[in-house]
Amino acid sequence: VVSSTISDQAVVDTIARRSAYTRFGGTYLGKAKDLVSLANQFSKGLLEPDRTFVVDSLSLHMDECGDLGALIKERTRARVCLEKPDFLFQVEKIDDGLALAVTRNGRKQFNWKQRRPRARRFFLPSAIYPKLARALVNLSAVKEGDVFFDPFCGTGSLLIEASLMGMKVVGADITKWIARGSLLNLKHFSLDSLGIIRADSSYEHLPLRSLDGISTDVPYGRASSTRGKETRDIIEKLLGGASDSLESGKYCVVMHPSKVDLSFDRNSFQLEGQHLIYVHRSLTRAISVLRRT
Ligand SMILES: C[S@@+](CC[C@H](N)C(=O)[O-])C[C@H]1O[C@@H](n2cnc3c(N)ncnc32)[C@H](O)[C@@H]1O
Repeated sequence: VVSSTISDQAVVDTIARRSAYTRFGGTYLGKAKDLVSLANQFSKGLLEPDRTFVVDSLSLHMDECGDLGALIKERTRARVCLEKPDFLFQVEKIDDGLALAVTRNGRKQFNWKQRRPRARRFFLPSAIYPKLARALVNLSAVKEGDVFFDPFCGTGSLLIEASLMGMKVVGADITKWIARGSLLNLKHFSLDSLGIIRADSSYEHLPLRSLDGISTDVPYGRASSTRGKETRDIIEKLLGGASDSLESGKYCVVMHPSKVDLSFDRNSFQLEGQHLIYVHRSLTRAISVLRRT
């Protein structure tokens, strides 16, 4: 659970809408020791009798959600609606009882399945899942309307998510038919791009300026070819080129095997964070978040 003191509902909604590994985002109402106390403390004045709502939880049993629903219904005379409720209450177990939060925008729905690698027009085994792709885009801190670049775009997983979030996207792949394939995948979801170029992104001078953020999943020679280059060198060259394309304060996010050391010019980038994802015995991925100095 991540909590913050943001009071603007629109900001909370944006975070909830954009986030990848999140089931729910809403306003925290408070905590209580049991369901009855929760309903007593928080349902009063919250719902008009003509409103509809639903209760959901990851940590409680469905029956307990039903019990809380019945208690809220009794106290507010609002109606339970599973399909399109006006309000969604999320109740979760915490150390010393139960916590309750609410959102007006109903359930968070992402249709991840529709965008899974195998569901796209163009598939490659190196394609990553949309949730991870979205997290990689978010880590680059791009905003709606910003120009986002994936220099090793493959099937376009990151470009699809960034475009859905309202960024202008540019991609590059060294292989022509792969670059075409990612364009096909964007079109499949009725998404536009500023262009997908066939280019070597390990070239020190990227042909792009004024980018707002870069995020990518570099090739490392297992599912995707490095064309005989060392992954470490590919990253070093990419960051060399990226330093000319990004202004100070902008981000370049690189996903790479954790075994590969990052080598970059400390005058150009600062490593702000690194997130590790265990995949299997011989592969742990590292997501390195670099900020242009
Ligand atoms: C790990 S895959 C990217 C997969 C992508 N994230 C996806 O979900 O489909 C890396 C991609 O980089 C491309 N590539 C390899 N060397 C390259 C280079 N020097 N410049 C640009 N692209 C390159 C490969 O063709 C491959 O499609």
